Amino acid sequence: MGQAWGFSRHGGPEVQEFFDRPDPEPGRGEVLIRVDVAGVNPLDHLLRSGLVDGLDGGRPFPRVLGMEAAGTVLARGEDVNGLEVGDAVFGFALTGGGTYAEMTVLSAPNTARIPEGLSATVAATLPVAGTTAIDVLDQLGLPTGATVLVNGVGGGVGLAVAQLSVGHGLRVIGTGSTAKRKHAEAVGVRFIDYTAEDVAAAARELAPDGFDGIVDMVGGASLRRVAPLARHPRNVIAVGDMSVSDLGGRFVERRVDRENLERSARLALDGVLAPVITAVHPLSDAPAALAAVENGHTSGKVVIKVT
Ligand SMILES: NC(=O)c1ccc[n+]([C@@H]2O[C@H](COP(=O)([O-])OP(=O)(O)OC[C@H]3O[C@@H](n4cnc5c(N)ncnc54)[C@H](OP(=O)(O)O)[C@@H]3O)[C@@H](O)[C@H]2O)c1
Repeated sequence: MGQAWGFSRHGGPEVQEFFDRPDPEPGRGEVLIRVDVAGVNPLDHLLRSGLVDGLDGGRPFPRVLGMEAAGTVLARGEDVNGLEVGDAVFGFALTGGGTYAEMTVLSAPNTARIPEGLSATVAATLPVAGTTAIDVLDQLGLPTGATVLVNGVGGGVGLAVAQLSVGHGLRVIGTGSTAKRKHAEAVGVRFIDYTAEDVAAAARELAPDGFDGIVDMVGGASLRRVAPLARHPRNVIAVGDMSVSDLGGRFVERRVDRENLERSARLALDGVLAPVITAVHPLSDAPAALAAVENGHTSGKVVIKVT
């Protein structure tokens, strides 16, 4: 039996609760892990509210929050390759186990070993933000020297996209509110404060010939304001707003497999990807951790340290 934090039905934060859950049995293709650190993502509250579905593995309520974690393998189900009991691992809880919990099951094809030298805290932030950033850069395929606009640069995915872009030799301009300036500039981003400047005008001044790529984390009206700044609409990639296709852009194509996780770990070991972890909460403080992300203005990554 272990403590978990989740929700008893779809709704707002009021449906969240702590409960004790029997240790999950790892099914076919799953590993049971003792969770060390869980990453917190906007997807967690979207799943709770019922706005997104299909990632719960068909599990009954109460469901446990959280999609990514790092921990230690305690047991393997059938058909698990490349992971052994005792391994330190990180990955996705794609079969509905949730990760805001002392124990959970991860889907083995979407889980990788943590390489020597990488902390569990950093590893726990890589599955969602790290691999999304890799996918964005792969999809854009921009040459060194190209100019990219990162709209929403201060959050988990935005800073990872900025770091990989800088690592790839791109010129990076990023948008965010005032508190994000220090994080963005530390990465080498030319920052536009959307609370103080007209973003489209400032961006146009910095890239008069338009942007070779635009990566959008914000969506809605903000996406619509920046999308026309791209030299080719196809090179507008959104990670959260699927209506980007109405503008001629593309939604990020995700690869959540072990190979991509291993790639993210290598980039983190090399220092190209350096997750900015701005808050570490104990499991008992999970409500505050998710509330901080749910308010829509997170800096970097928020994690829950379970053990
Ligand atoms: N498709 C996928 O697989 C995938 C994977 C990961 C994430 N996502 C989605 O991508 C989005 C971003 O994820 P995330 O983890 O980076 O979220 P996050 O950590 O919450 O960051 C979002 C950032 O956007 C900034 N922001 C909000 N309004 C803005 C505006 N008008 N202009 C510029 N910046 C603004 C926020 O702070 P400030 O306003 O204070 O600057 C915050 O730093 C979410 O919708 C998430 O669900 C999708």
